[in-house]
Amino acid sequence: MALPVVVDAEYLKQIEKARRDLRALIANRNCAPLMLRLAWHDAGTYDAISKTGGPNGSIRNEEEYSHGANNGLKKAIDFCEEVKAKHPRISYADLYQLAGVVAVEVTGGPTVNFVPGRRDSKICTRDGRLPDAKKGESHLRDIFYRMGLTDKDIVALSGAHTLGRAHPERSGFDGAWTEDPLKFDNSYFEILLEEDSAGLLKLPTDRALVDDPEFRRYVELYAKDEDAFFRDYAESHKKLSELGFVPS
Ligand code: HEM
Repeated sequence: MALPVVVDAEYLKQIEKARRDLRALIANRNCAPLMLRLAWHDAGTYDAISKTGGPNGSIRNEEEYSHGANNGLKKAIDFCEEVKAKHPRISYADLYQLAGVVAVEVTGGPTVNFVPGRRDSKICTRDGRLPDAKKGESHLRDIFYRMGLTDKDIVALSGAHTLGRAHPERSGFDGAWTEDPLKFDNSYFEILLEEDSAGLLKLPTDRALVDDPEFRRYVELYAKDEDAFFRDYAESHKKLSELGFVPS
């Protein structure tokens, strides 16, 4: 069992300094999408029944970052290591989630409330806990319900694909979801509803959000109301970043 993280005044000061360092690092390296994907892949292994996985920093272990789903994330882990070296008390688990929150903020997205104190774990979850982009709505529900998340969370969090792109050498897919992949906005949902979005990426799991009526009502809402998307995204991202975490 990892040692508890003592969140005292000094720890909070380091968090604020790390937040500033992350803003600068993300701007310099242009890596907001990759940092957000790192935070999501550390957290998205959570299993609400066995209470294993989750945002616990375990993705830093070679065994876990070598899982196919994590292709490309070693780079983000190394970037975070630079910040860890300057603020060694901060747990990896907190650092990765802070990086995700900062990535959303600096690209123009909503402010996601960040509560520190996550413990690190070295236990690597088995491969296969993250979603498979080639599958459909029932797979998405299996994966996200296992984490204890809802249909609304699935759609709101998928809106993170407003950032970044797929790389053939990482996932086998290619291209960006939106015209401006470094701006966090609701364009992912607008484009999802367009019949003709030539040149932009739609994964099978993205398409599932339009095909399934329960998911689609959120897609339609977020496409026409960016404030609603930002509000729900901030709430769902906070839930994702705190899976299995009980603040002390
Ligand atoms: C990228 C799948 C949900 C954030 C990707 C890529 C795939 C993928 C295949 C391309 C990776 C690459 O080739 O570099 C999925 C599937 C999801 C999902 C199947 C199920 C709903 C999420 C969630 C978030 C997220 C919940 C964050 C809250 C990102 C970001 C990128 C990305 C930011 C771009 C990374 C980059 O530009 O390097 N995702 N994803 N994804 N995903 Fe997801």
